[in-house]
Amino acid sequence: LTSEQYGVKRLPFSHVSDSDIAFFEHLIPGRVITDPDELRLFNVDWLQSVRGCSKMLLRPRTAAEISEILRYCNKRKLAVNPQGGNTGLVGGSVPVFDEIIISTALMNQVISFNSVSGILVCQAGCILENLNQYLEELDFIMPLDLGAKGSCHIGGNVATNAGGLRLLRYGSLRGTVLGLEVVLADGSILNCLASLRKDNTGYDLKQLFIGSEGTLGIITAVSILCPRKPKSVNLVFLGCQSFSQVLGTFTTCKGMLGEILSAYEFMDDKCMKLVENHLKLSNPVTGNPFYILIETSGSNSVHDEEKLNNFLEHVMASGLVTDGTVATEDKKIKMLWSLRERITEALTHDGCVYKYDLSLPVERLYDLVIDTRARLGKTAKNVVGYGHLGDGNLHLNITAESYSHSLLDAIEPFVYEWTAQYNGSISAEHGLGFKKKHYIQYSKPKEAVLLMQQVKAMLDPKGILNPYKTLPASS
Ligand code: FAD
Ligand code: MLT
Ligand code: ZN
Repeated sequence: LTSEQYGVKRLPFSHVSDSDIAFFEHLIPGRVITDPDELRLFNVDWLQSVRGCSKMLLRPRTAAEISEILRYCNKRKLAVNPQGGNTGLVGGSVPVFDEIIISTALMNQVISFNSVSGILVCQAGCILENLNQYLEELDFIMPLDLGAKGSCHIGGNVATNAGGLRLLRYGSLRGTVLGLEVVLADGSILNCLASLRKDNTGYDLKQLFIGSEGTLGIITAVSILCPRKPKSVNLVFLGCQSFSQVLGTFTTCKGMLGEILSAYEFMDDKCMKLVENHLKLSNPVTGNPFYILIETSGSNSVHDEEKLNNFLEHVMASGLVTDGTVATEDKKIKMLWSLRERITEALTHDGCVYKYDLSLPVERLYDLVIDTRARLGKTAKNVVGYGHLGDGNLHLNITAESYSHSLLDAIEPFVYEWTAQYNGSISAEHGLGFKKKHYIQYSKPKEAVLLMQQVKAMLDPKGILNPYKTLPASS
């Protein structure tokens, strides 16, 4: 879809002129991209669901350069779109019209790592997987992991407050991010790059920028607390006959695995069919309506394996689980994780994807999939459910051969109303971006939205930072 098809009007920002291009060429020579062919990739989101028409992409290397860029754009009233790895799933990472794309791709330097405290300080454009590899050599890991790790940037992760596969164990970025450096709309540099676990001096300003999706400032550096690399990692892939057995297995494993539990993910059989059919991955435990991935991470393999074996014996004997396989070696662990991590990719091969990311009371989580399937009937190709069950986070995805407005009308606001009746969140981890900003009221009271709009107006009075995203326009 293009922005015109969404019925959005361009706001009265300036248009990029030849003298603007000359200014940026002078500021960051050779790092101003105006070639339409080169720009195409950066104008389209990962899902290929939204497309902008930016005529310029800038590739700064430092916060000082971003400061100069924003100071100029603010003065000229030029709108900008911060972009990391462009893996965002709500249309926030690409321009809606001709916003200037400011990419963090060249801001990929580690600034420091302290192996006593485990605190990493790095530039915002470091790719998550590279950071994890860097840390693994030092016996540490990043506190977050997601399927997009090979492309997403840590700055983008912080800007979206990404959750992912390790949140159950290491918590959200709101806890692990200790400091940020941010360039504000007027070009001033806010240095809150503390490396302290504890710091109660005034308001915690960095929290404003975590999850703000590039609408309040551009994150240029991140200070983050990293856990030690676990000495022993095990993964089990299990099959269950019903969703209530998935829940029963969850409560059992919380009790029996306790401190070594590091992930609890689930997917339904339709997800498995998609990864089997479109990606040719093979399911080691066939014939179940639900599958679970449980990861343990600990410091003593004998202890961990004993706990895991006791747990497995218990869930098999009690009939909670019908079948399963265990992996302790790296290759098999990666293979089993790919069955879960690559569902997102498999869905894109199935057709047009309608993507929902909900927080719900865990015991009601799968009811939404069942109700949506019943509601849509044959008008949808596939209605699938998977997600971070341990965090109460469902990914409900619907595919169809092609985009259809009437199908969208049948899904929305149904899914949001369904979620709101249980006081859930209509965006658990992906953010609101361009696609979901008009649904914020299903999860936030109007007073909260108003305060958000006031914060936005204070930090970015001309509205140049990622316009048309995250918040509905103030009335
Ligand atoms: P982008 O997509 O480039 O940008 C995302 C948003 O952040 C945009 O609004 C952009 O303007 C803003 N932004 C980017 N960089 C900055 C910056 N430096 N300063 C200010 N604003 C900035 N998300 C999850 O939460 N959990 C998952 O498990 C998960 N798995 C995924 C799996 C796949 C296969 C894919 C494609 C996506 C997945 N995502 C997941 C969504 C996405 O990867 C995350 O939102 C990710 O954190 C985005 O990082 P990015 O660098 O690609 O940011
Ligand atoms: C995931 O958990 O796989 C991601 O959030 C991406 C998705 O929702 O498809
Ligand atoms: Zn997810």
